[in-house]
Amino acid sequence: MIQTVFPASSLNGTVFIPPDKSIAHRSALFAALAEGTSGISNYSLAADPQTTLNCIRQLGVRVEADGPNVRVYGKGRFALETPSGEVDCGNSGTTMRLLSGIVAGSGMEATLTGDHSLTNRTMKRILDPLRMMGAPVSAREGMYAPLRFSKHGGLKSLNYELPIASAQLKSCILLAGLFSSEETTVIEKMESRNHTEELLKLRTDRRNGCKVIYSSSASLVPLQNYAVPGDFSASAFWMVAGSIHDDAHIILPAVGINPSRTAVLNILQRMGADIKLHDQRKQGNEPIADIEIRKAGLKAITLSPSDIPNCIDELPVLAVAMLFAEGRSEFRKASELRHKECDRLSAMAGMLQKVNAEFTEHADGLTIFGNPEFTSQGARFESLHDHRIAMSAAVLASKCSSASVVEDAECTAISYPDFFKDLEKIRID
Ligand code: S3P
Repeated sequence: MIQTVFPASSLNGTVFIPPDKSIAHRSALFAALAEGTSGISNYSLAADPQTTLNCIRQLGVRVEADGPNVRVYGKGRFALETPSGEVDCGNSGTTMRLLSGIVAGSGMEATLTGDHSLTNRTMKRILDPLRMMGAPVSAREGMYAPLRFSKHGGLKSLNYELPIASAQLKSCILLAGLFSSEETTVIEKMESRNHTEELLKLRTDRRNGCKVIYSSSASLVPLQNYAVPGDFSASAFWMVAGSIHDDAHIILPAVGINPSRTAVLNILQRMGADIKLHDQRKQGNEPIADIEIRKAGLKAITLSPSDIPNCIDELPVLAVAMLFAEGRSEFRKASELRHKECDRLSAMAGMLQKVNAEFTEHADGLTIFGNPEFTSQGARFESLHDHRIAMSAAVLASKCSSASVVEDAECTAISYPDFFKDLEKIRID
């Protein structure tokens, strides 16, 4: 689908952000492992979290979904069924990596596959520790899906220091550890999003400046009336859009503000953004707030490597903010972006090139020379079938002086099906 994006003279209104994708995946997967029925509300209707529901159905777990209200009839970890065919994780790296921990831990025979993008993303990071735990698994060229797990009699526990900051990797190991009789320990030097340990109530402590997380075979309790908060990562598109449009005023009600996710808020505020959190409160185990954004003059910023893990999904739209910020902005140590739904560094460079921006692409980051008065004619942006690239391009397109198009824009359905409708709702001609 080709989506036309018209210039906006301003943006004004309230946007209801879709439910958090990371938390939705986890709520469904953990409910499947629990003994008893879980009730989840505000479950995401986006494609990736729906894929996770279909995957757990294939493991014999009954799931009833009435729009965003989901009931998962967990039978306990040891009653999962061997799937009859390949389990299709679609475009979702989180589904494949977390489910791999569950499949490996359970000892069942199963094959996990995905779409063209997912079957070309490295799975080596999870295969190495799972094999150290004793999981018999083979992969195309040793690292790509389809991942073929064979039956086995039980995993060993593992004490593992994460070589990269990755919540998917951390979660995969901790989930496999739930099936072992001895304790598995994961050590994080740089903290990534903490939804797995929070939702599973895993014991954590600190050692030599690192976070240590323990998982063992205690039985899991179902989630009672669990409401998924609004997706902070989705709100980042509006935080940037509201910051760069004259007279903009945007309200985002009930967005998750878990500190392991909000680095981009802190970064934008350091750039001078006018973003306020109102009515901070708790929804289940997660902090939420209403977010208010107004236009502000942005200054350039250089990110430090420690900023990167907790804003990894927001860097594509942050690059747009950098383009409208006064001076030279830079981020490095972000080569992980090359292993997302597409090579996001190269996609961001392609997007910036389309508007003749002044920038340098590095192996691990970007340097962008920005200017609050930056202007360009509309362009034809490629999404590369990556939802976050499509939405970042749309934010940039809304600042162009004539209409733009975003190619293959249907990919926004992966995390934010109503994105273009919401943009049109708050766009002032
Ligand atoms: C996610 C973790 C991040 C993020 C992805 C969702 C998660 O990936 O990019 O969109 O839900 O755990 P990594 O953990 O691989 O960095």
